[in-house]
Amino acid sequence: MDGAVGASTVVHVTIFDSLTLDQLRTRTSMKWRHYPADVLPLFVAEMDVPQAEPVVRAVHDAMHRGDTGYPSDDDHSVAEALAGFAAQRWGWDVPVARTRTAADVMVGLLEVVRLLTGPGDAVVISPPVYPPFTEFLQHADRRILHAPLGADGRLDLDALDHAFGRAKTHGSRAAYLLCNPQNPTGTLHTADELAALGVVSARHGVRVVSDEVHAPLVPESGSRFVPATTVIPDAIALHSASKAFNLAALRVAVAVPGPEATEVSDLAKPVADGVMHLGAVAQTAAYAEGGAFLDEVLTGLAHNRRLLRGLLAPLVTWEPPEATYFAWLDLAEFADNPARVLLDGGLAVNPGATFGVEGAGHVRLNVATSSAILTEAVARLHTALSGVRPG
Ligand SMILES: Cc1ncc(COP(=O)(O)O)c(C=O)c1O
Repeated sequence: MDGAVGASTVVHVTIFDSLTLDQLRTRTSMKWRHYPADVLPLFVAEMDVPQAEPVVRAVHDAMHRGDTGYPSDDDHSVAEALAGFAAQRWGWDVPVARTRTAADVMVGLLEVVRLLTGPGDAVVISPPVYPPFTEFLQHADRRILHAPLGADGRLDLDALDHAFGRAKTHGSRAAYLLCNPQNPTGTLHTADELAALGVVSARHGVRVVSDEVHAPLVPESGSRFVPATTVIPDAIALHSASKAFNLAALRVAVAVPGPEATEVSDLAKPVADGVMHLGAVAQTAAYAEGGAFLDEVLTGLAHNRRLLRGLLAPLVTWEPPEATYFAWLDLAEFADNPARVLLDGGLAVNPGATFGVEGAGHVRLNVATSSAILTEAVARLHTALSGVRPG
């Protein structure tokens, strides 16, 4: 396989076909080092793309200037760049002066949760959802309550109503951690769904904190990301360019308060001190000058999703979701732990159960890779699943 997929010449279909497997294997990040070289890694949220030129230039120039010190106090450069991006892409007016910068999305989410709730207070999440939600909330001594997504993969208002009621027993403070769009299902919450969430959360006095790191990754033109704070006025959102521009190595995040959320200005100085200056340099360039790169990524994702759907059929039926670069595949008919079966067949994906018990029998596969790797990955999937097919 490595001969074909790793060959030095590639047919350039989209931006994802720019790099060969051999070139990708020179990377030293988690995606390329966690598993042995004979395993195709389609698990962690990294993209197999070259870096956007404006970001390369900005970081390169900063290094050449020796601009490698601390971020300056009250530096709003990432937030300003985010505001320009958000206005253009979503028609959203980000209140730059009221934002605060944090080291990354998870640190920002946790610090916002700390402002809104105390130790022992409840935080509601909707599994299947990004596993660190649970890990970080446990670390912060919050009581975690579940309001799982419905069978249709969408917010379940009755489950939320019930969980919010339980969260507010004893008059304690409580929050809801929304994943908008949802990792791993790719669900893009609609304005109506967010409005209904806002009604229920307001009725119970539960504050909404929205993780919007995947927001730019909406490949199909018919779907539109709705910022939670535009619908729920006292919500607080976290944004970052780290997913859409593949910048996990240069992390930073912006906490954006809704018009009626007053607490973000109280984020403690240690939160701002955690920001890495080069992360801010990189993400400012991504938001301000990376539009053409992002458009190529979205075109590539749309292509890869169509390719994947065709390759999977008829063994596995999969309809691409509205957002993210993940395919959330239901493989329960083949095995209790299909990720294990696929790994044995040389393909690494995320086991669905790590996103919550609701994810059992599923796997999360990252489609942000080349057509050649995706094709080989699905060939391995077919072989591995055919070996365990019931009956
Ligand atoms: C939903 C979600 N939130 C947060 C993160 C991590 O963001 P950060 O690295 O900025 O903490 C990820 C990474 O994949 C994610 O999918």
